[in-house]
Amino acid sequence: MAASTLSPATPSQLCSSKNGIFSSSQYLMLKPTRTNFVGKEKGMRITCQATSIPADDRVPDMGKRQLMNLLLLGAISLPTAGMLVPYATFFAPPGGGGAGGGTIAKDALGNDVIADEWLKTHGPGDRTLTQGLKGDPTYLVVENDKTLATYGINAVCTHLGCVVPWNAAENKFICPCHGSQYNNQGRVVRGPAPLSLALAHADVDDGKVVFVPWVETDFRTGENPWWA
Ligand code: FES
Repeated sequence: MAASTLSPATPSQLCSSKNGIFSSSQYLMLKPTRTNFVGKEKGMRITCQATSIPADDRVPDMGKRQLMNLLLLGAISLPTAGMLVPYATFFAPPGGGGAGGGTIAKDALGNDVIADEWLKTHGPGDRTLTQGLKGDPTYLVVENDKTLATYGINAVCTHLGCVVPWNAAENKFICPCHGSQYNNQGRVVRGPAPLSLALAHADVDDGKVVFVPWVETDFRTGENPWWA
């Protein structure tokens, strides 16, 4: 079949490709309007008419670019903020709402420990775990006169960090991991633990037990607190 041109065009407006492949730059700069296929030869020859695109149409104006940037910024910042907020709150210590920067003790169910209610169900000599400062397991101590001790005992072993259970029969805290022992006030009496269990003040504020950091001398050893 003979080749035929459907519309007149100047040589500078024509483009052709013997193998049918155009470079990307060619594609961007040219706007095909008509094509003419010639099938006599083995290879395919394509002739197209191109019109030039004004520079103003190829580059978005400043207003459009700023709008696109704002949209892009919003699309990135919203999900990023959504991920960062829970990440940051995870590392923030739980606020107990206690007076003087203390933390309200929580029982095994996560409820605030009410001092009077606690003493109704916990007898003299009792040592029961509660949630204390920074979420650490902390023993609340009931004295022999059925009052709450003014200190709580952090249950984290000073050897390698196991939670040390109270052994009422032995009247000691005995670590199940490597056998360290602490007396009934948490003073270390047998290694390998190098230090006594940490203390916290156990105050009663508005009827609730509040743990407050212990920064004074350790009354069990007469030394400065190693945990402060
Ligand atoms: S962790 Fe308690 S003795 Fe090793």
